[in-house]
Amino acid sequence: MRFTKALSLVPALASCSTADPVLGPLSHIASNPEDSQSVLGRIPTAHESAVLGRRILALTPLGTLATVFPNPPDGHYSAEERRPAGLGGVPLGLMDYVADCEDEGNPTILAINIATSFKNVRAGSNISLAQAWTPRYAPDKRIKSGPASLWDWIFGGKGGDEVTSSNGADSVPYSAANLPRYSLLGYLEKIEASELDGVSACFVKQHPDAKYWLPGNRIHESEFVRLVVTQVYWIGGFGDRAYIGWIDPADWKSVTRKDWEAVRLPGEKKGWDEWRVEM
Ligand SMILES: *[C@@H]1O[C@H](CO)[C@@H](O)[C@H](O)[C@H]1NC(C)=O
Repeated sequence: MRFTKALSLVPALASCSTADPVLGPLSHIASNPEDSQSVLGRIPTAHESAVLGRRILALTPLGTLATVFPNPPDGHYSAEERRPAGLGGVPLGLMDYVADCEDEGNPTILAINIATSFKNVRAGSNISLAQAWTPRYAPDKRIKSGPASLWDWIFGGKGGDEVTSSNGADSVPYSAANLPRYSLLGYLEKIEASELDGVSACFVKQHPDAKYWLPGNRIHESEFVRLVVTQVYWIGGFGDRAYIGWIDPADWKSVTRKDWEAVRLPGEKKGWDEWRVEM
């Protein structure tokens, strides 16, 4: 397997305090190192990453659906929509509600027929769902955003790698680049009537406001669908400590509730440290 160093993808991160020994592994930030041996411990396997991913799916109610606009002819779109010309093949990402109501690795989505994501699918688009892990608590110790100060260098302060969290106004009080995220590629499949009751109850439990656009409502035509996962692309965090790459979809689907209930993601509990490897 060939790994490429992709330092240029992350110039902002790479420019901070590269002289610090802790930040040395940033050279592997967007790819796994050749020997798959983290300087901080063992890099999780693709299977262990699948278990973490299935926990993210179970605990994350929002995602971004990506579809592409159809190439002409645009027969599926009416003239009054006034879509700008020349969008055929252009990808569109939109946030949507997601739930894990079947516990088989295929996300549950409430598709509103007039929503662009689902119109694109009906017009032949492929679809993927991106989700990212959001920690419940800010870490106690953060990766410092700026370079180490001259004071730190001279007097041996924190060395520029960590700083105690204090700013409650920070809307992203953690290193999101170091947290797991994935994209699930696949296709939509209508959920059969016999399964609707359980799925509907599960979805509304996760998203109480969705009760207004359940199938049969008087405003929008809608239906429950599952995203049948055919490929999984995973970025577990910085490549020196997390797996980055494809996960076998069979592996993704083989994960049981018992499996994902037994693991924890970074920041599920208070008092965590951004640099620690949690496996
Ligand atoms: C969907 O993906 C397949 C590859 O799996 C590709 O052949 C096809 O052209 C894609 N469809 C669109 C509309 O891009």
